[in-house]
Amino acid sequence: MLHETVLRQHARHGSNAGQPLTRRDGVLKVTGRATYAADNHPEGMLYAVTAVSRIARGRVTALDVDAARAHPGVVEVITPANRPPLAHDPDEKMPPFGFRVEVLQDDSVRYVNQPIALVVAETLEAATEGAALLNPQYEAESARTGPHNGEHFAPPAIGVGAPPRTAHGDVEAGLAAAARVTEAEYVTPPQYHNAMEPHAVVAQWDGDRLTLDMPNQALALSCASYAAYFGIPVENVVIRSPFLGGGFGSKAILNGPHILAIVAARMLNRPVKLALTRTQMYGPVGHRGRTWQKLRIGTDSDGRLTALHHHALCATSSFDEFIEPAANASLPLYASPAILSEHEALRLDIGTPGPMRAPGEASGSAALEVAMDEAAEACGMDPLAFRQANYAETEPGTGRPFSSKALRECYTEGAKRFGWSRRPLAPRTMRDENGLLVGWGMGTAVFHCPHFPAQARATLRADGSALVETAGADMGQGAWTALAQIAAEALGLEPDQVELRSGISTLPDGGIAGGSGHTASAGLALHNAGDDAIARLAEIAVADPASPLFGAGNIGVVARNGRLHRRDDEGRSESYSDILARADRSEVIGTAKAARDPAVAEAHAMFSHGAVFAEVKVDPDLGQVRVSRLVGAFAAGRIINPRLVRSQYFGGMIWGLSFALQEEAITDRRTGRIMNADLAEYHVPVNADVPSLDAILVPEDDLYVNPLGVKGVGEIGITGTVGAIANAVWHATGVRVRRFPIRIEDLL
Ligand code: MOS
Repeated sequence: MLHETVLRQHARHGSNAGQPLTRRDGVLKVTGRATYAADNHPEGMLYAVTAVSRIARGRVTALDVDAARAHPGVVEVITPANRPPLAHDPDEKMPPFGFRVEVLQDDSVRYVNQPIALVVAETLEAATEGAALLNPQYEAESARTGPHNGEHFAPPAIGVGAPPRTAHGDVEAGLAAAARVTEAEYVTPPQYHNAMEPHAVVAQWDGDRLTLDMPNQALALSCASYAAYFGIPVENVVIRSPFLGGGFGSKAILNGPHILAIVAARMLNRPVKLALTRTQMYGPVGHRGRTWQKLRIGTDSDGRLTALHHHALCATSSFDEFIEPAANASLPLYASPAILSEHEALRLDIGTPGPMRAPGEASGSAALEVAMDEAAEACGMDPLAFRQANYAETEPGTGRPFSSKALRECYTEGAKRFGWSRRPLAPRTMRDENGLLVGWGMGTAVFHCPHFPAQARATLRADGSALVETAGADMGQGAWTALAQIAAEALGLEPDQVELRSGISTLPDGGIAGGSGHTASAGLALHNAGDDAIARLAEIAVADPASPLFGAGNIGVVARNGRLHRRDDEGRSESYSDILARADRSEVIGTAKAARDPAVAEAHAMFSHGAVFAEVKVDPDLGQVRVSRLVGAFAAGRIINPRLVRSQYFGGMIWGLSFALQEEAITDRRTGRIMNADLAEYHVPVNADVPSLDAILVPEDDLYVNPLGVKGVGEIGITGTVGAIANAVWHATGVRVRRFPIRIEDLL
């Protein structure tokens, strides 16, 4: 019980976390020394290239395998005719992220860019040419490309398992009782993952042991899935993922091309590398699905909501069921006696959508925030005042308290920094010095706070430094840095005394780097492991008569600056090195598992919040829109590293800008092909598109979300920004655009 006592009395110190440290991986990345998956070239490695379908629906009737095989350097051509069996049926979904994968199980084609063969060769050029020589013949059926010809169905679940319909109160009664009802439909486009690093894998077999170099957001889960596909024990799979060039959710989920590369490596008994081309990513690795969202908002004569109805029709593939949980964006935000969120699904001949940066919330909040702006307009109210009038003090519908919610402060701080109080109510009333129309709009940002079970190990070393380990993933968000800061705090060390190892599956399971929950989840495990190491060190010291800490067991000790101090007399202290040296120990190891307390989680609604304010300038003759200013104010609990957090908010806000004005995968309705499947024509913001950005870190203490008080910051920035920009465009022009991205022709 001494251990327990020490653990409980070990105090937390805020000296290390909170520092705006730069990223540990930054120099490696900008100097080209970071080794990404495709940078690995093991001895004897072969190159694999997928041949992909050019039709959206039908069958492959012929492949010229002989021509491909005859090409110099081609080693093997894998098709449905010779693909070795897998231990797990790829048509059977595997929880928890159960997606069906296309791995040449038959000759059917369900989307453009679906793998239809894999060519393996001594060089990338030979594999590419071999794939081109396959000259596929098809029996094509007409592609289902939209609500007019897709199959509508009621989804059994949305997102990764949420119920498709949530009702609080009687929406029809609320609408009937309303003084005004605002009703409109909003359309959001398909968006595709365009991480700087395309999906890649280098697969190596050694007997029945499999080593994979691949970018991966969910190491332990993926190991289990690959083990199941290949019929080997999970401990035989090692995934190395030290660096990811972006993930966005797509690198948490298995995909067909990766599995095929592993198949090839086993079949040929040589390492195999496969890296998708940019265009090949538009299909088999998930995307943000298209939505059609209808909102009905009832308000009373004081501008208070009487009902909020959010219906989302969401596209999915013909063979799987991922449904963007868009309408659920209306559940947590505004007080209303009646809220109804419901989802309908549409089968199209596309690759299956999947989680993509704020899945659900991004699309859903885009619609909700414009609808709220329209409702404010109908009430003749300022959009911010309207939202404040409908502020949810407790979670709408359930009445649960929020674990913390400094949204009111976000509104106030953001509005002040932006200068919102000078906004004229009427649209098309402001011009700049060049005659451009100027508009101001705002939106509320919200994102839930998931928590993934995670494990970690902390080793205090004889030299007074520490090694901390957890198998997480740094996609560029700065996890290496923030997690080391959290561990350093628990260990009473400076961050530069703490070495962090991560990004390989042999380390303790760090949970999923997704859902904006990695810092909280892996961080809590590291914090607890640090606590455990300190407790073990304290046990040694307090039991040693030669230590100044002897007998302090019931009083407790404090870890600070590499020393343990008696809690009742901080002058009595001893360094970690001295404690270990006298005990003749080279190290002391702490371990921890960390998960959220289900009772606390059940009792509270847990969300990060924010408010985003946008200024746009619109050319009255040409309709060209430029965002000139974005101010976001966000409250996300305790901030571990303000520099990294601000960067996360910026990244989210820039994606919001992209969503509002630029991104869209355009489908040819005749063929089902995506016409702009490359970074030349699929528009994402460049520096010149990005205006003056400001992110305010609004202080917030959260005693419930987790013992660290840390909430997520990665995805929330998208959510308020899309609506803020769209609403600013309305304010500039008087034109309400309900289809994203907003285009020039919408404004003329
Ligand atoms: Mo994200 S969609 O949780 O990587």
